[in-house]
Amino acid sequence: NFEIVIETLTIKTTRTDHSRLAELDKTNLPFGKYFTDHMFVADYEDGEWKNFAIVPYGPIPMSPASSVIHYGQTIFEGLKAYRQADGSVSVFRAGKNLERMNKSAVRMAMPTLPEEIFMQGLAALIDIDRAWVPDIENYSLYIRPTMFATDAFLGVRPSLTYKFMILMSPSAPYYSKPLKVKIETKYTRSVDGGVGAAKTAGNYAMAMLPTVKAHEEGFDQLIWTDAKEHKYVEESGAANLMFVVDGKILTPEVRETILDGVTRDTVIQLAKSTGYEVEERRVSIHEVLEYAESGRLTEAFAVGTAATITQIYEMNYEGKAYPLTDLSTRTVSNGILAKLNQIRYGLTADEFGWNWIL
Ligand code: PLP
Ligand code: COI
Repeated sequence: NFEIVIETLTIKTTRTDHSRLAELDKTNLPFGKYFTDHMFVADYEDGEWKNFAIVPYGPIPMSPASSVIHYGQTIFEGLKAYRQADGSVSVFRAGKNLERMNKSAVRMAMPTLPEEIFMQGLAALIDIDRAWVPDIENYSLYIRPTMFATDAFLGVRPSLTYKFMILMSPSAPYYSKPLKVKIETKYTRSVDGGVGAAKTAGNYAMAMLPTVKAHEEGFDQLIWTDAKEHKYVEESGAANLMFVVDGKILTPEVRETILDGVTRDTVIQLAKSTGYEVEERRVSIHEVLEYAESGRLTEAFAVGTAATITQIYEMNYEGKAYPLTDLSTRTVSNGILAKLNQIRYGLTADEFGWNWIL
């Protein structure tokens, strides 16, 4: 948990006069498609954050010259709120997302966001749209804080004004089934000295074409490799990656080309506390494929907030398929997922202090 709040924020609240909640089919919530009745907004002007407000979810007025549209100064986060067994709502590890958002902000020459704005804005928004938090197993309220540059100016320099918003979307998990992945050796997601560790739009935009091509070839997702040699595993572009080899968890170490995932950290902590060894280091493709062929690789999975823990059932490297172990044998990842779900939904003691109950 984070230290609670020094100052109290004044948030101007305008409630919608027509809630859309009754129109929502709560059993059919594709990831990121529906949004709650309200959003939190704030502006950065004259060197400070101001105009804190909760307003009905809807279009925002912007200049067509807004620098975000032209030069892409924009960052975002993704976290989730879960309906607890007792009906309350828990936001999972929000402090980690704020920390990472501020790292992204620094890399993109954007202003950082004080803790009280992020936390109190989020708490007030959850409170007003509390009824939107799903109560179906594996569903959650996906929370999307976003900050972007709003100067109406075509010169290339950091914007002097920004908008911060928090949107919320009741959602099913991002992936509905296990993944068949292509190990990408042509295109590159991220380079040393680049922005791969920042959660910024460009990282997702540049991945669109290679991902579309992979879909056309029959794959669900890519595994990105390092830019220099295409020899080391990086991440999947919407999640980090983990392998189980000889009963140990092996995962690429966090570096400046990889997003430092909150779920990755969560899974590592849970794995260690369950007694598994976790190795964080550079992981070569050839090593992983060799383990797959020799039977030493017993599990491979993606970990992320939207993705949760998603199994990988087949990897493909330069045209050769590497089918992986039967999904029903994946006891390490499924055990960790079960424990994680117990914590997130408030069904067991929150021994790590990850839940922020609202
Ligand atoms: N890598 C990328 C590029 C992502 O977009 C995400 C999702 O947020 C992750 C990794 C996993 O990070 P987290 O577990 O914090 O959601
Ligand atoms: C998340 O897991 O929060 C993400 O940002 C992944 C995504 C881009 C849908």
